[in-house]
Amino acid sequence: MTSLRQDATIQLTDHLAIPAIGLGTWPMEGDEAYDAVLRAIDKGYRHIDTATNYNNEDAVGRAIVDTDTDRDDLWVTSKFNRDGHGRDEVKQAYAASLQRMGLDYLDSYLVHWPNPDQHKFVAACEGLQELVDDGKLRSWGVSNFKPAHLDAVYAAGLTPVMNQVQIDPHHLQPAQLAHNAKYELITAAYSPLGRAGEFLDDPAVTTLAEAYDKTPAQIVLRWHLDSGRIAVPKSADDTRQRQNLEVFDFHLTPAEVAAIDALDTGAGPRLDADEFGH
Ligand SMILES: NC(=O)c1ccc[n+]([C@@H]2O[C@H](COP(=O)([O-])OP(=O)(O)OC[C@H]3O[C@@H](n4cnc5c(N)ncnc54)[C@H](OP(=O)(O)O)[C@@H]3O)[C@@H](O)[C@H]2O)c1
Repeated sequence: MTSLRQDATIQLTDHLAIPAIGLGTWPMEGDEAYDAVLRAIDKGYRHIDTATNYNNEDAVGRAIVDTDTDRDDLWVTSKFNRDGHGRDEVKQAYAASLQRMGLDYLDSYLVHWPNPDQHKFVAACEGLQELVDDGKLRSWGVSNFKPAHLDAVYAAGLTPVMNQVQIDPHHLQPAQLAHNAKYELITAAYSPLGRAGEFLDDPAVTTLAEAYDKTPAQIVLRWHLDSGRIAVPKSADDTRQRQNLEVFDFHLTPAEVAAIDALDTGAGPRLDADEFGH
């Protein structure tokens, strides 16, 4: 079994280090999700990303329970929906996620979308902090939080450990990244490969792939890591799962990182968190 190298983690707090590459599990469900997670852990993945909304917490949890790898050696993140917003509601959502997954604790639980129409995401964050303070949850964070949503959370004296947002070479979102950095908030990139986006064929990426003897996807994942981001690529395929993890034996130079940054189209994420949520 492959073991992750030291540089495969990102320090979240003084006592929490998260494996920098996680396995994304959307849109897999049932046996497909179970099988993909089991195979990924066997290859050396130590970070699994799920959500209540993916309808696969049960299958993902079953794989985590069934694997030979110790639970404490894995980082498991889930996320909750709008009905979990609120100080007490989030505790009910957390208990329900644990029950579906068959687990005693999660390493991180994220507010999946701010759903600002409800005006309850700050209360949800307060409830998450209480779960951590009570020793029931290791860490909490947010997802799809735009700068104004983050400002509201920090104004309440609350400090999430990460913001999971859609970042790829065509969707760099520099203002969002700068706002995360302002709060020293780690960015986790979702859809980090742009769902096999067109940029994988761009000479800025393919030239580096040839130079480093890597695939274009590996160059893009290394670009995320060399920019200080976590990435959670989804793959159900053995070869691509392995390739997505084999990104810790090289680095891009700052100029190479900048060349990929330059592919940014200026486009925002697919979904606007002020309009969309669940
Ligand atoms: N917080 C949120 O709101 C949110 C939203 C969306 C997604 N997410 C999370 O982020 C994860 C990843 O995002 P995503 O699934 O949207 O996009 P992605 O990881 O960028 O792309 C996944 C797609 O790329 C293919 N792929 C994977 N590795 C590849 C490689 N090395 N070379 C070429 N193609 C490759 C996969 O196919 P194969 O499976 O066939 O390899 C799949 O079709 C999700 O699974 C989920 O956990 C979070």
